[in-house]
Amino acid sequence: MIDITNVEYSYNNNIALTNINLHIDKGESIALLGPNGSGKSTLLKLINGILFPNKGEYKFEGTNITKKQLSNIKFSKLFHKKIGFIFQNSETQLFCANVYDEIAFGPRQMGMNETQVEKRVNDCLDLLEINELKYRQPYNLSGGEKKKVAIACVLSLNPDVITLDEPMNSLDPKTKRFLKNLIIKLNESGKTIICSTHDFEYVDGIFKRAIVFSNEHTIVRDDVYKNVLNDDNFLYEHNIK
Ligand SMILES: Nc1ncnc2c1ncn2[C@@H]1O[C@H](COP(=O)(O)OP(=O)(O)OP(=O)(O)O)[C@@H](O)[C@H]1O
Ligand SMILES: [Mg+2]
Repeated sequence: MIDITNVEYSYNNNIALTNINLHIDKGESIALLGPNGSGKSTLLKLINGILFPNKGEYKFEGTNITKKQLSNIKFSKLFHKKIGFIFQNSETQLFCANVYDEIAFGPRQMGMNETQVEKRVNDCLDLLEINELKYRQPYNLSGGEKKKVAIACVLSLNPDVITLDEPMNSLDPKTKRFLKNLIIKLNESGKTIICSTHDFEYVDGIFKRAIVFSNEHTIVRDDVYKNVLNDDNFLYEHNIK
């Protein structure tokens, strides 16, 4: 489903990723681990077509994802319907006047009629248990409430791949447990999960595979999640624990 070959990415002269090779199959649940600045968020942005490799290639379901490819509106819509991104900072993804319109935005972009849109929005409000936020202004919500709305927005398009950048940040313990169970349910229903995290406690049971980045901005381990988590020497060496 996702094939990344010899990818490099730099922000001006700042190397963020180097020599990245990665294959991800449909239905996997993957944790991206590694110290601050090692390249996890950059990889998620590349996978979502927000950034493009300076070198190497990224293929999604066999199609090379490039700026040119995504300038094709029809392809871009299809791509963004298939893969959703929950940003670390929810503020950057909320811009509508109220929560209803925020969640409706994606489905409307995809050309659904208002009856279908309303059903999608209500389903997502129910799933995230945020019905009472329906007519609130996203801007004025708390950090955790914003996060839930951002997740609802992504789920409103029913994507095949759900990517999350440190989703547990700023959530209270109950909401973390709720989100953990939601991610597990989504994965069980066949969704591919790719998620960066520094949090081990609240993600227990989500992941089957771990991809570990080093300070050198490359992948130093790609292994069964449990094996990585049980390898204390490795985790300390790489500043993960
Ligand atoms: N917009 C930017 N401009 C310049 N450099 C950037 C930018 N964003 C990230 N970087 C640099 O790219 C490298 C990788 O950053 P990235 O955000 O991908 O790390 P990360 O693994 O997500 O870290 P964290 O755990 O702190 O979220 C870092 O050296 C960072 O300073
Ligand atoms: Mg990051």
